[in-house]
Amino acid sequence: MDLSTLVGVFGFILLSTPFPVDADFPTGARVAERCYCELEMADGPFPRRRFEQLFSLSDNCSQSLNVEQFNEPVDIIADIEQRLEKLVHWISVLEEEYDGDLYSIVSFRIIEIESAELTDLVNQLQELNSRNQGIVAKFVVKVQNITDEVDTLEKYDRLKVVKEHRRNKILKRSLSSCQSALLVTPTPYVTPQPGSCSFGKLVDVSDPKSSMLNHFGASYQYGCWGMDPWPAPGKEEQYWLMILSSSNRFGNKIRVFTSYSKFLTRSSAVDVTFKTHNAQGSGGVMYRDAYYYNCYNLGQLCKFDMTTAEIFSVKLPYAGFNDKFPYCTVSSCYGYSDMDLATDENGLWVLYATELNYGNLVVSQLNATDMSLLNSWNTTLYKRSATNAFLVCGIVYATRYLNSEFEEIFYMFDTTTGVEQNNLAIRVRKVLPGIQYMNYNPRDKLLYVYSDAYVVSYSLFFA
Ligand SMILES: *[C@@H]1O[C@H](CO)[C@@H](O)[C@H](O)[C@H]1NC(C)=O
Ligand SMILES: *[C@@H]1O[C@H](CO)[C@@H](O)[C@H](O)[C@H]1NC(C)=O
Ligand SMILES: *[C@@H]1O[C@H](CO)[C@@H](O)[C@H](O)[C@H]1NC(C)=O
Ligand SMILES: *[C@@H]1O[C@H](CO)[C@@H](O)[C@H](O)[C@H]1NC(C)=O
Repeated sequence: MDLSTLVGVFGFILLSTPFPVDADFPTGARVAERCYCELEMADGPFPRRRFEQLFSLSDNCSQSLNVEQFNEPVDIIADIEQRLEKLVHWISVLEEEYDGDLYSIVSFRIIEIESAELTDLVNQLQELNSRNQGIVAKFVVKVQNITDEVDTLEKYDRLKVVKEHRRNKILKRSLSSCQSALLVTPTPYVTPQPGSCSFGKLVDVSDPKSSMLNHFGASYQYGCWGMDPWPAPGKEEQYWLMILSSSNRFGNKIRVFTSYSKFLTRSSAVDVTFKTHNAQGSGGVMYRDAYYYNCYNLGQLCKFDMTTAEIFSVKLPYAGFNDKFPYCTVSSCYGYSDMDLATDENGLWVLYATELNYGNLVVSQLNATDMSLLNSWNTTLYKRSATNAFLVCGIVYATRYLNSEFEEIFYMFDTTTGVEQNNLAIRVRKVLPGIQYMNYNPRDKLLYVYSDAYVVSYSLFFA
């Protein structure tokens, strides 16, 4: 007979929140989201049925041996022992009473009764014994049968039955340890204190760490997504997504997910809708439990409180809007990208251009409470010559279109020193040619990108 090998394969899918492989990521935050187990049968079936029957048989066998058959004789024997003791006692009483030729009638009668009962018990025991002999004989056959079966099954040993059995046990243990990994609470991200930038300049960007089509579909070419770098208590694991309607101009709601796994599986989404002031362009950010964006059709910044749903707006002085100073590639522009909000270790920023600065990029640090300008810098980067920009540690980085495969970070402006450089050559591998959104999150130190309906993220490397 050609028989089988039972092969056990096991594994975990370990998903860190938010991404699977990241050296910078706290190890404790890796959460197993799923455990899986595969059993493969090679070379035809193992006689599992026979194996199971054998198990059941030997189980039944030992159970009946233990419980029914041996309790009764044990009880009888204990009884006989007691009776024998009594009999010995009464015989000694009788001997004491003996005074030459007369036995005590009473004692003699008691001994008679005791000995009759003892005889009865011995008979019972004998009967049981003969019955047990039958049982024992039957068990002998059963045990022989089991032994034969084991012998037969042992022939499968070349197929490593025993070994695989053991491996399956190990597999079970691994699965249960995986299961418990699911229950581990991830280590929270540490929101950096403003100004805390221990790392140097950006030198490289990873390949896309994650990329997936946005939840609304491929027709939504413009959007923003990310995680609040300074979340409200209880919202630490939240991810958000906002897409612009098919006109690629306005958005009226933010979709919120309670965790990255929910984001991935597109489950338990909550849509938060703006009551007034829709968003314009894909330059919004979530910061301190509020969504900041360019108010629709206005030269203003809007702040939408995620808890109270209140909207607060303020004019951004001199800022071009409604496609006056958008981001562009050589051949076309990204619609309504005039005002680009950004977050970094130092807080909240807005990138835009003014006529006063000849359409060149202006960077302003915002007071997150009232959106007043804390500080502004004029740069010499013509805004239309960049495709996007983001900030890390107070340094502005701008990108340009190289080809359908790569975007290039070519420009930087350090707000702390005023130093400007336009000869950086850091390539960013794209999933699709267009880059509609870029923002850095100082909490997980990832770059969040929206690329032709795909939500993508990257790790950044500093030196
Ligand atoms: C073992 O006992 C159970 C319950 O009495 C019975 O269903 C099963 O068939 C028995 N197995 C064998 C192999 O005798
Ligand atoms: C022992 O095995 C034979 C053949 O498989 C079967 O006919 C018989 O009933 C078995 N005896 C017992 C006591 O299980
Ligand atoms: C931000 O604005 C609020 C409200 O106007 C004010 O109380 C706070 O002092 C400002 N913060 C800074 C850093 O200017
Ligand atoms: C930027 O340039 C304009 C025009 O020269 C000037 O009015 C403005 O004060 C400058 N802003 C800063 C922050 O230097």
